Amino acid sequence: MVPFVRSALVLVSIYLVIQCGYTYDPLFPSSKYHEWKKLILTHHWPVTVCKMDGVHCKSPPKYWTLHGLWTDKTQMCNNSWHFNCTEIQGILSEMNQWWPDVLHPNQSQLWSHEWQKHGTCAASLECLNSQLKYFSKGLELYKKVDLNSVLEKSGIKPSTTYYQMKDIEDAIIHVYGVLPKIQCLSPQQGEKAQTLGQIEICFTKEFQLRNCTNEELYVTPKEPPTKWNSKNEDLHVCNNNLSTYYPPVEEF
Ligand SMILES: *[C@@H]1O[C@H](CO)[C@@H](O)[C@H](O)[C@H]1NC(C)=O
Ligand SMILES: *[C@@H]1O[C@H](CO)[C@@H](O)[C@H](O)[C@H]1NC(C)=O
Ligand SMILES: *[C@@H]1O[C@H](CO)[C@@H](O)[C@H](O)[C@H]1NC(C)=O
Ligand SMILES: *[C@@H]1O[C@H](CO)[C@@H](O)[C@H](O)[C@H]1NC(C)=O
Ligand SMILES: *[C@@H]1O[C@H](CO)[C@@H](O)[C@H](O)[C@H]1NC(C)=O
Repeated sequence: MVPFVRSALVLVSIYLVIQCGYTYDPLFPSSKYHEWKKLILTHHWPVTVCKMDGVHCKSPPKYWTLHGLWTDKTQMCNNSWHFNCTEIQGILSEMNQWWPDVLHPNQSQLWSHEWQKHGTCAASLECLNSQLKYFSKGLELYKKVDLNSVLEKSGIKPSTTYYQMKDIEDAIIHVYGVLPKIQCLSPQQGEKAQTLGQIEICFTKEFQLRNCTNEELYVTPKEPPTKWNSKNEDLHVCNNNLSTYYPPVEEF
């Protein structure tokens, strides 16, 4: 391993031991609220988000932004717990910078969607049981993972030449020591490559890094899609056999 990778690995492993109360209620082991096993820190590449939407974007950020902090297996855990922007007033400038609604800048549509769909489920952990705690933890994990500098230091930069998926995946595995889930947009008409869109880094309920793969043979029930944007195309796990385009902002 090259030195920067080794030191990054050490830093990440130290940083990611985050203390946080975890409550498990033995009286309701199978309640919907407790079923989830991992937290998924989802980053998306704004240029690809804009490309998928096609309409709204003016000048997308030049860095990976947060899409969400998701729980696996559960969604929409409490429909009567509404998003309330006043509760996250104190972290609004950071939210706008690192967790922006790429398609609707300075608006709270994405946050409202993320809270209703994922935050209300994550809230079964005591340390995520308010909107301020949930969004603050997302920002905290995002900063500690620091995907932008990890990719850049590994030489994975937006480029007009294509990447092999293995190079992108290896860069991430070498630093974090766990398997990410990487999603792409299929080649559009006339394109030779898929487009890099989303990178997920997974955590245990104790906020330790873990593989994004499932070790249990559990099939996630298909939920009807709820979307915060109008995209027709969906991201899916990248195809290792295709070249991959990591589009520069200037290309948009
Ligand atoms: C759902 O959210 C509402 C509003 O915050 C709260 O009063 C209620 O206790 C929650 N329900 C559950 C099952 O947590
Ligand atoms: C939103 O949160 C603020 C601060 O906690 C509170 O004062 C206000 O009543 C809440 N609004 C609604 C509609 O619940
Ligand atoms: C969002 O708001 C900030 C601060 O109010 C402002 O500087 C920025 O230009 C706004 N961005 C957009 C895209 O409207
Ligand atoms: C993560 O996946 C890698 C590669 O499949 C495997 O070698 C490793 O044991 C897994 N780690 C955990 C903690 O499951
Ligand atoms: C990739 O190529 C291999 C070997 O040709 C093939 O077995 C595999 O199904 C392909 N995978 C996808 C996702 O197309």
